Amino acid sequence: MKGICLILASLLLATLAKAEYFYGLNYGINQDSCPTLEDVKKDLTALKPYTNRIRIFSLSVCNQAELALQATQELGMQLYLGMWVDRPDTFDNEMKALDNIASKYGFSNVDAIIVGSEVLYRNDTDSASLANYIKKVKDTIGPKGVKVTTADVYYELPPDVVQELDFVMMNAFPYWEGVSVQDGASTLMNHYDHVVTIAQGKPVKISETGWPSAGDNFGDAVPSPENQKTYLAAVLCEAKKRNIDILWFSAKDEPYRSGVEAHWGILNANNTLKSNIPLSTLQNPC
Ligand SMILES: *[C@@H]1O[C@H](CO)[C@@H](O)[C@H](O)[C@H]1NC(C)=O
Ligand SMILES: *[C@@H]1O[C@H](CO)[C@@H](O)[C@H](O)[C@H]1NC(C)=O
Repeated sequence: MKGICLILASLLLATLAKAEYFYGLNYGINQDSCPTLEDVKKDLTALKPYTNRIRIFSLSVCNQAELALQATQELGMQLYLGMWVDRPDTFDNEMKALDNIASKYGFSNVDAIIVGSEVLYRNDTDSASLANYIKKVKDTIGPKGVKVTTADVYYELPPDVVQELDFVMMNAFPYWEGVSVQDGASTLMNHYDHVVTIAQGKPVKISETGWPSAGDNFGDAVPSPENQKTYLAAVLCEAKKRNIDILWFSAKDEPYRSGVEAHWGILNANNTLKSNIPLSTLQNPC
């Protein structure tokens, strides 16, 4: 009897631990006030009921890669490691950090390395240089079996970059296109379908999308708790039907960012689930 109870209890725990309402969540940090390992563990423990996977944006800044690797490996979570690319010296710092974590932690729970976030969108470098950065990372960690990609907006994925990727990741924010929330999910799916046509047969994942719960209107796009829920449910429903992997933007509100940028989280800044996002919506978005 005791044995059966234990088996049932561990089955229940395994089921709970697998509650992946989100394929993954984008996890930003305040670079002006670097978190400690305890801070990161606290955040990821709060996120784990909703996802088993996070993505970070830089390896070296605030020593994020080490903190995220330690926390995810302890909590049994998966990780997308982002390398920040804007200037050549930044890339060199990130490469050093990559070498360091490769020897210290390994990549057993790393889904992929994302070389650069919206690099081409920001005009930080040209596509040939970005392709070259990606190639360098692939030469370093490709032999260890780790996948390599970049993440950029859906209209900045040129053929010479796509050619270097193991799979394609696209960002799209109908909010920043000034689209009404009713047209949000269909707008996202149109962009996704377009990227599939330029992906050279590679799988396509969505690296960022989301809707803010507060802030200024942008064209017909209105931030509100209700609209955040509407967009979330519509997109999660499409993702489920079409089996699309999405890293939602973002994990939690970031009050240190200004204006609308502070309000994209599914968690409040204090790590509670936003009250406009009921568990029932996450469980059954369609
Ligand atoms: C990047 O450059 C293009 C062409 O010069 C310009 O239209 C665009 O606004 C720039 N993007 C950013 C984010 O500065
Ligand atoms: C967390 O933050 C939200 C939004 O600011 C607030 O409504 C809620 O009361 C807070 N919860 C706790 C436990 O502090």
